[in-house]
Amino acid sequence: MVALSLELPPTAMTTLASTPTSEPKLLAEPFFIGPLEVNPPILQAPMAGFTNYAFRQIVREYGGAGLLATEMVNARGFVWLDEQEAEHPDRLWGVADEPRPLAVQIWDNDPATMAKVGERLAQQYRVSVVDINFGCPVRQVTQKAHSGSYLLRDPDRMGRIIEQVVAACGSTPVTAKIRLGCTRDQINAIDIAQVVEGAGAAALTVHGRTAADMFRGSADWDQISKIKPHLSRIPLIGNGDLDSAEKVVDAFRRYAVDGVMIARASLGKPWLFSQAAAAVRGQPVPEEPTLTEQQELLIHHFDLVCQRFGEKKACILMRKYACCYAQGRRGAREFRKRVATLETPEEFYAIVKNFFPREEAVEI
Ligand SMILES: Cc1cc2nc3c(=O)[nH]c(=O)nc-3n(C[C@H](O)[C@H](O)[C@H](O)COP(=O)(O)O)c2cc1C
Repeated sequence: MVALSLELPPTAMTTLASTPTSEPKLLAEPFFIGPLEVNPPILQAPMAGFTNYAFRQIVREYGGAGLLATEMVNARGFVWLDEQEAEHPDRLWGVADEPRPLAVQIWDNDPATMAKVGERLAQQYRVSVVDINFGCPVRQVTQKAHSGSYLLRDPDRMGRIIEQVVAACGSTPVTAKIRLGCTRDQINAIDIAQVVEGAGAAALTVHGRTAADMFRGSADWDQISKIKPHLSRIPLIGNGDLDSAEKVVDAFRRYAVDGVMIARASLGKPWLFSQAAAAVRGQPVPEEPTLTEQQELLIHHFDLVCQRFGEKKACILMRKYACCYAQGRRGAREFRKRVATLETPEEFYAIVKNFFPREEAVEI
């Protein structure tokens, strides 16, 4: 176990390191999304192209995430597939049968289409949460489909979407994920939060950047925090730039959030949730898996992807997943170069065995 070194004031330290005779005091309490307890209050973020069943299964095996989420699913595409009596989207791989709690995220700008899909997810798939994407800044979604973060300029429509999805989902809670606004000089997250709550959502997640920021700059957690006093009923989940157990602890200590959500950092470190969960519980933080364990993890990830997509496609998909595991490590470039042309499982096993980077890069 690694001793957690935190830059906390003495009061916070006292909270974390409670006396041995008492239960360690929680830095962050579990919270509820409707009837669902999120415990620990640390959520795995939806990430298109990444947080499929294979990734979620790995996160689940390490533990520490109180709620897992799929990639975003396009509601219009889902309805179209239904009309063609075709198989449901690949992005719903695993959703019908995998353990709960599980949130499925959907996007579109048409309230009726969103409601139709919300109902299917609630009734047929029996998901724990239907989450609505109002944060995606990608052109395909904003300019072409007037959805995702594009809707932050249209709170009325956001409200109608949420109301109709909530009505269609019955007892299944509906949540919303937003950014702070469209641009830095059009931050309207407080107004939006009130619309989200007023329309009947059960939780709000805020990524502390604007749509125009894309991923530039830093997430503004002060802006996230400012939303809290304006919510009377629903929990607030903060998101952005959390890449260590220390940062998660710090976010709970400094900002008025009920939960936190982790995205990019978990792609190469799916064990991060378990480390963060231990830290907020005041328990010793589990060490990173050893090199051998990480190599085994890559093979496990590959096997899970193969089960769905077959070896050929799994090799192509694994090119990007494997690179995440190597990111920030010395030797990552060589590993990436080799993985980029991966064609067969045998090649993958050999690359993982011989070229998976051994150590973290030293920051200069
Ligand atoms: C590759 C990628 C795909 C993403 N896909 C989604 C998505 O499908 N739905 C969503 O709400 N956010 C999506 N996001 C945004 C993340 O959920 C998260 O809000 C953002 O990355 C900030 O958190 P982080 O700093 O922990 O990465 C995506 C981010 C990345 C990097």
